[in-house]
Amino acid sequence: MNTEIEPVHIGQEDDIEIGSVENFEHEEIDYAIFRLESGFFATQGHCVCEDQAFLSESNVEGEELECASCGNTFSIVSGDPISDLELPSLKIYDIYEEEGDIYLNL
Ligand code: FES
Repeated sequence: MNTEIEPVHIGQEDDIEIGSVENFEHEEIDYAIFRLESGFFATQGHCVCEDQAFLSESNVEGEELECASCGNTFSIVSGDPISDLELPSLKIYDIYEEEGDIYLNL
C-alpha cells in the first residue's frame, strides 16, 4: 500500500481572502480551503450530515464555520462539531504555505 504523502499545489496565498473559504477539487474529491487570521486550514469539501452541503459555502466566523445548509457549527481548526455534539467531526487535512504558494498534503 502506498502511504506516501503527496503535497498538492492548490494555488497562491493571495487567491483566498482572510476570513473566507474556497472549494478545491483534486481527483474528483472536494476540499474546503480556509484562510483565517491564524493561517490556512483545510477540511473535507462536504458537510457530514445527509445534506452534504459544500463547506465552501459556509459562513466563517473567527475559527468556526457555520454550515450553509443546516446551520450547524464546527471548528475549522480541529474539525470538531460545536453546535451539535452528536455530529461526527469534519476530516481535516495538513495544509501549508511556502513562499506564497499553498500546498495540501494528501
Ligand atoms: S449539511 Fe447538515 S450540518 Fe451541514
